[in-house]
Amino acid sequence: MINKNAPFVTVEGMDGAGKSSHIDKIVATLEEAGWTVVRTREPGGTELGEQLRERILNEEMSIEIEIDLLFQSRRDLLEKVIVPNLEKGIAIVCDRFTDSTYAYQGGEYPHMKPVIKQYELDVHGTLTPDMTLLFDLPVEISKQRLDFTGKIPDKFESKDEAYFEKVRNSYLERVSAEPERFRVIDSNQPKDKVSEDVGMVMQDFINVPSKKKKFKM
Ligand code: TYD
Repeated sequence: MINKNAPFVTVEGMDGAGKSSHIDKIVATLEEAGWTVVRTREPGGTELGEQLRERILNEEMSIEIEIDLLFQSRRDLLEKVIVPNLEKGIAIVCDRFTDSTYAYQGGEYPHMKPVIKQYELDVHGTLTPDMTLLFDLPVEISKQRLDFTGKIPDKFESKDEAYFEKVRNSYLERVSAEPERFRVIDSNQPKDKVSEDVGMVMQDFINVPSKKKKFKM
């Protein structure tokens, strides 16, 4: 159990769903509400995590090793960044977290979901995000939006539509299992409208009285 004094928000979605461009707004809304915010990402966010990210995103490996490395990176991020900051009253906005492992690794290999669950319990125990924004859109649109100008697609970005259908479905299964934690953002809209929706979700999150009490706002 950690003595958590600030909100922990995660951001999820398929590659091409445009989540990165909306994270600034998520951070800004929390800052306007008076929080100091640390923004981080997965896999990565620490020196070791960024080294593991290079390998995870670019090397072929067994699904068992991939999940293990993802949770090694996650453990390092939790120990060095997420937990100490939340304990100090500093909010965390994390670009991807364990829901990504359920969606990407568990989507393609459903028999690994119990293994992921076990890692989850072991690595972050009862610590879960207070809110997860899922940027959702149909697979064919996310594929069309991926722009690799000036960059080579990584191992995941190179996968086909059938793979991403499984990723999307696994995300939506997570939403059904924990509807109170997720806010699904319809990314199949103009960017301004998506940004407006993000703003509304964030205002709602900040204004809930029980949240204020819980986080000592
Ligand atoms: P992301 O940072 O969103 O990529 P980008 O470089 O486009 O900003 O995510 C990196 C990739 O890692 C993404 O394709 C999904 C993948 N991933 C997993 O497969 N499992 C995981 O648990 C995590 C955290 C990421």
